Formats: sequence, structure tokens, C-alpha cells
Amino acid sequence: MSDFQDWSRQVAMDMERTLSDLLPSPNTQPQRLHAAMRYSSLGGGKRVRPMLAFAAGLVTDADPARLKLVSAAVEFVHAYSLIHDDLPCMDNDILRRGRPTCHIEFDEATALLAGDALQALAFEIVSTHKLTDSAEIQLQMIQHFTKACGSHGMAGGQAIDLASVNKTITLPELEYMHILKTGALIRASVQLGALCGRALQANEMQHLDRYAKCVGLAFQVVDDILDCESNTEKLGKTSGKDQDANKPTYVSLMGLAPAKRFADELLTDAHAAVESFGEKANRLRQLAEFIVRRES
Ligand code: IPE
Ligand code: IPE
Ligand code: MG
Ligand code: MG
Ligand code: MG
Repeated sequence: MSDFQDWSRQVAMDMERTLSDLLPSPNTQPQRLHAAMRYSSLGGGKRVRPMLAFAAGLVTDADPARLKLVSAAVEFVHAYSLIHDDLPCMDNDILRRGRPTCHIEFDEATALLAGDALQALAFEIVSTHKLTDSAEIQLQMIQHFTKACGSHGMAGGQAIDLASVNKTITLPELEYMHILKTGALIRASVQLGALCGRALQANEMQHLDRYAKCVGLAFQVVDDILDCESNTEKLGKTSGKDQDANKPTYVSLMGLAPAKRFADELLTDAHAAVESFGEKANRLRQLAEFIVRRES
């Protein structure tokens, strides 16, 4: 087992514990809503966003206890985005992380509310706990996070995604959609993780942000490739859905081989962006490789 596998397993295990502790107990009212929130947050997922926050925190020597909290906040928003993404009014998916989607296991109204409540829980975490030594920086973190979730971030990207069904869009339009719907939250994971630690110089923060933008876009390019190339069992979600729904993707616009080359280019750019950080950025480098080479 490689050193990266050990590390990523450890982050995933720590995350499972942290998420479980932060979630309302399934025995508290309203029990069905709390059960749905726990169902969709626990026991699955690659936990890539927490890993990115932890890896960025290594660059700034951040306190792991603080990193766990920002990672949990980002992961709760991610879980919420998946619950809503799977609803019949969006992608209409029945399988997620190898299990029935939230609205299938529970019902649509519960799924909608579980997503809403997970988003609120995420913002409660970043506004309640002390995450940096400076209240001003903490406010900045909350602003980055808010923007990543809203209409200029994930929710906006999802709106463009739905409006693009059965349409031909240009490559710059597709890139913009991917940067918002997936890139924004990934970028925020890196920003928040780094901001938990010591202050970086402006140019260092720019390097880190360049890295985050490259891996954020690469993540969705690879998601598009896997939807086309992998299978339902490996993915834990129904493969081939993008083509069935006639969604524009990197594969439909560019073709499979050019999409793979583009993901490789983004990987090279991500490596270049963190070159000046030396060994402190090793986990970020390994994560970029993982994001582009992953099989699920
Ligand atoms: C899937 O995200 C949705 C996208 C943003 C592409 P992940 O591939 O990170 O999903 P999990 O958390 O591992 O299930
Ligand atoms: C989802 O993109 C992005 C968000 C949830 C914000 P997809 O619709 O491609 O994700 P999957 O393939 O269902 O995981
Ligand atoms: Mg979608
Ligand atoms: Mg989807
Ligand atoms: Mg997809």
C-alpha cells in the first residue's frame, strides 16, 4: 500500500468520525430528516474535498482540528449538492455511492429538506467554531465558501448545466459551467484549508489558487470521461447518464481522447502551480494525480 493510500484512508476515516459527530443524532426530532442527512453524508464517497483541504493545510502548517471542521463543512455542502443533483427535477438518478439515492430511500420532500439542512449545518460550522487566529480571515473564509455555493458558484453551475440539456454550447461555455458547478467548491476546499494555517504571501496564495482551479476543472472533465467510459458497478452511480440526457460534456464536445489529453494538461499545470512550495506540497501533487487518474 502506498504512502498516499495510507494517508487518504486516514483522512477518510477521520472525516467519517467528524461528520458523524457533527450531524444531529438519528434519535432526535425530526428523526426522518436527520436519518436522511446521515444517510447521504456518511459511509461513502471519496472524500476528495476534505483531502484537498488537509493537503492545502499542510502547506500552511494548519491545526488538524481546524482542518477537520472546514473539511466537514465543505463535505456537507458536497453531500447536499449530490442529493439535489439526483432529484427527478435535476438528473433523476436512482443510484449514488452504490446505494439508492436519498429521494428513493426516503422521499423527494425529505431529500430536498436534507439538502437544505446540510447546507445550513455547513455554514453553522464555519461561523461557530474558531478556524483561524484572526476573525477577519475567518470572515474571508466564510465569504469564499458562500460564493462557492451560490449563483456564482455551484448553484449557478447547476443552473447552466440544466439549461444546456439538448443544446449545443461552445467549449468556453462548457468550461465556465464546469468551473462553477464543480470547480468552485473544490477551489473553496483548498482556500479554506490553507487559510486555517499561517498567512501566505499574496503570490503564494495565487499559486495555490491556480492549482485549485486546475484540479477543480480536471475533476469534472474526468467525471465526464468516467460517465462515458466506466461502468455502473465501479462508479456506484449509473454510467452513461450524460449521453442519455443529452448533456454537453467534455467527451461530447471534444471526443474521448482529446478530453483525456485536456485532463493531462490540467494535471501538468497543477504541478507547475505548486512547484515553488517544495516538499510541503507533496500531498497536493499526489491528489492532483489521483483526481486525474482515478477510476471512480
Ligand atoms: C461527484 O463528486 C459529483 C461531481 C461534482 C462531479 P465526487 O466524485 O467527489 O463524489 P463522491 O463524494 O466521491 O461520491
Ligand atoms: C454534479 O455533476 C455536480 C454537482 C453535484 C454540483 P454531475 O451531475 O455530473 O455529477 P454526477 O455525475 O451525478 O455525480
Ligand atoms: Mg448534474
Ligand atoms: Mg448528476
Ligand atoms: Mg457526472
